[in-house]
Amino acid sequence: MDKSVEILAEIAGLSIEESLRKMVECFPGKVIFSTSFGWEDQVISHIIFTNKLDIKVFTLETGRLFPETYYVWNRTIERYGVAIEAYYPHTEQVEKMVSEKGPSSFYESVANRKECCGIRKIEPLKRALAGNSLWITGIRAEQSPNREDMHAVEWDAANGLHKFHPIFNWTLEQVKDYIKIYNIPYNPLHDKGFPSIGCAPCTRAVKDGEDFRAGRWWWEDQDKKECGLHSS
Ligand code: ADX
Ligand code: SF4
Repeated sequence: MDKSVEILAEIAGLSIEESLRKMVECFPGKVIFSTSFGWEDQVISHIIFTNKLDIKVFTLETGRLFPETYYVWNRTIERYGVAIEAYYPHTEQVEKMVSEKGPSSFYESVANRKECCGIRKIEPLKRALAGNSLWITGIRAEQSPNREDMHAVEWDAANGLHKFHPIFNWTLEQVKDYIKIYNIPYNPLHDKGFPSIGCAPCTRAVKDGEDFRAGRWWWEDQDKKECGLHSS
């Protein structure tokens, strides 16, 4: 049920750390954070791990991540001494898709791309979220026009739980400053023109002045570029 407005009122004026604590109080044992190890996610992980908040941290291991993403994943578990749960796609689904269509079917049509995201991300996401009440993400409003229309707390009808984006209103500069001040490990691709990092074959660097997400599924029309993790 949508209680987003009440939850927003509860956390108004609180720091990110305090708002996360409040969420843990409201939904004990049922708060979960998804990380793709992008710098927004690294800020949130830092706050969760240094404060030992009772929030399960997980990642969707699509099998197509950049080597740099595994590097920052390793550095994160070493730095904080924590475990991050990995959710993999079902082997038989990946085997069938890749055997029938080859390893790069996602470039051939939007339907194929959605099939791949469905198998490698959406189905594992559903398993990760099952039984939880609040899903935390690193989404920021500035990332795309579509995200500007979202809210810091939302009801996710498709998954039957609330979503909370704790740094929703942060600018990229704020994120970078935070990373620097606390010396948080981050993905080295961010320094090479990658503001948004997903799977390796579906992400490229952006040019100066291009949108944050221009390097994601760059061969598709603008309005089709969502993988379904955050479709409203
Ligand atoms: S996506 O929908 O385009 O893939 P994006 O890369 O902007 O999403 O990331 C937004 C948020 O979605 C991240 O802050 C993170 O919470 C979640 N997310 C995206 N990809 C993954 C992943 N592979 N594993 C876990 N969480 C992810
Ligand atoms: Fe497949 Fe690309 Fe989607 Fe990753 S982003 S799951 S490789 S289509």
